[in-house]
Amino acid sequence: MSLVTTKEMFERSMREHYAIGAFNINNMEFIQAITDAAEEAKSPVILQVSSSAIKYARMGYLKKMVEAAVESTTIPIALHLDHGPDFETCKMCIDNGFTSVMIDASKYDFEENVRITKEVVDYAHSHGVVVEAELGTLAGVEDEVNVSDDDARYTNPDQAYEFVQRTGCDSLAIAIGTSHGAYKFKGEAKLRFDILAKVKEKLPNTPIVLHGASTVIPELVEMCNNNGANIPGAKGCPDEMLKQAGENGVSKINVDTDLRLAMTAQVRRVFNESPEVFDPRKYLGAARDEIKKVVLHKINDVFCSNNKA
Ligand code: G3H
Ligand code: 13P
Ligand code: ZN
Repeated sequence: MSLVTTKEMFERSMREHYAIGAFNINNMEFIQAITDAAEEAKSPVILQVSSSAIKYARMGYLKKMVEAAVESTTIPIALHLDHGPDFETCKMCIDNGFTSVMIDASKYDFEENVRITKEVVDYAHSHGVVVEAELGTLAGVEDEVNVSDDDARYTNPDQAYEFVQRTGCDSLAIAIGTSHGAYKFKGEAKLRFDILAKVKEKLPNTPIVLHGASTVIPELVEMCNNNGANIPGAKGCPDEMLKQAGENGVSKINVDTDLRLAMTAQVRRVFNESPEVFDPRKYLGAARDEIKKVVLHKINDVFCSNNKA
């Protein structure tokens, strides 16, 4: 099978009320772990690459490794640009065979966000590529701004409708209380499912995307900290909330932090428990196994996209 766009996977996810996992990749171990898990669970999957990941791993290497994953699996795989900062970066990815791009112009005002997004949509659609856009601001305790303190940061459902009509974007990332990284909530985790419901009411056929949706898996944080890390008080979105999101109109759930924690936890454990080890395959192999375990859990128990390939 060759790379696919997210069109069909999202259509089915909206009909059958589950979400597709979009997992960030940086190197070979991530790509193999994610695609091995998706193959085992018979789930469609989105591999996403940020512009800093492209800078790190280099476009040519990423493309070839993803190509190898596609050739050795039977599931639908989309290759997506995560948080494309401008038209040029989106164009570069489209020209390099990505099947989906995100233009993140959410930091601009509404009119500028519409203008930049529309420019990307026109180019992408003329090349058979789909576009995710973002409206609203994902903030969190990391930014020292708790999103729940400021209603204006959440996505406005009326604006969301106008935005999709005017830009023609294929999917929309919304702000309902999640944030990137390992520190998402100061107190109790809370997502604004009321806003999600209003957005879906206005846009029943538009796939909705949840960024900053890692669980910040407590066992992995503990394993990191028990082996020399210093990540105190990290907190993410509980599995039950993500499951609820998938059942209520969220079609794409983004995960990066949990995979980073999985890799770090195992590398630290091996170094700590076996100081004599210096074969990278020993610690990177353990890291790859842990990432696969995390992805399998999400697909099977939280997003429920297993057997939907
Ligand atoms: O949402 C951002 C992703 O976690 C990617 O992060 O730019 O450090 O690769 P990055
Ligand atoms: P996390 O930091 O919660 O994993 O979010 C990742 C993300 O949204 C990538 O775009
Ligand atoms: Zn994101």
